[in-house]
Amino acid sequence: MDPASDLLTLRKNTAGLESPSTPVSPHAVPVRVWDGPTRLSHWAVAALFGFSWWSARSGHLDYHRWSGLTLLGVLALRVVWGFVGSGTAKFAHFVKGPRTVWRYVRGQLDSRPPGHNPLGALSVLAMLALLAAQVGLGLFSVDVDGLESGPLSDRVSFETGRLCARLHGLGFNLLLTLVGIHLLAVLAHLLIKRDNLIVPMITGWKK
Ligand code: HEM
Ligand code: HEM
Repeated sequence: MDPASDLLTLRKNTAGLESPSTPVSPHAVPVRVWDGPTRLSHWAVAALFGFSWWSARSGHLDYHRWSGLTLLGVLALRVVWGFVGSGTAKFAHFVKGPRTVWRYVRGQLDSRPPGHNPLGALSVLAMLALLAAQVGLGLFSVDVDGLESGPLSDRVSFETGRLCARLHGLGFNLLLTLVGIHLLAVLAHLLIKRDNLIVPMITGWKK
């Protein structure tokens, strides 16, 4: 990118934040990273995941079904937003082919636009897909004595409902592993790369 268009980009990014007479310094220009719906859906997913975990483990299956169904709604909205939303929220913006991911891993990408990096995007897709599978399986799950069940479990046999419940338990452990990796990656960015990803996920802006 030539210096003139660079400056234009910086001015676009600061629109509404600083007066036109403010000198533009590349070090002090906040960049818009995440829009409102993306941040809201992220923190809703994180909270509902925690609540679903707690409610299942403590035997509050009535709360568990409601939090799971709410999570299903949030995931559906996030997926729709991935097609019709703005900039960094769009799947087309962050889902890259294997060649780009490999170049990112080898540090060969010249520039990095704001948003998910090509490698992080893979874990984002994996988390969204696994969360969707988790709620999908929950809908058909039945517990061992048939007393607690998902709202669609009457559509399948008891054996199939039990299989879904076992896969639901397995899916949860996989999700816990992925979320653990997700949190470690965010921490590694903060401590090793000195790159705070958490603030932009709260405020929407990166300094
Ligand atoms: C529509 C959404 C959901 C429904 C209807 C649902 C339903 C159920 C049901 C009926 C059970 C009891 C199964 C049994 O005791 O064998 C269960 C267990 C469980 N669910 Fe969900 N669930 C949903 C979403 C979730 C989500 C998003 C999580 C992630 C935190 C989750 C985590 C668990 C865990 C950890 C258990 C206990 C598994 C075990 O003890 O083996 N569920 N769920
Ligand atoms: C305190 C806990 C958490 C923190 C600090 C956190 C932080 C973040 C940050 C900073 C990003 C953006 C990463 C980037 O810049 O590319 C992100 C994205 C994401 N996180 Fe988390 N996260 C947390 C918990 C969770 C949990 C529990 C889940 C899933 C159950 C989750 C799922 C996701 C997903 C799916 C995205 C992609 C967002 C999107 O594009 O819609 N996060 N998280």
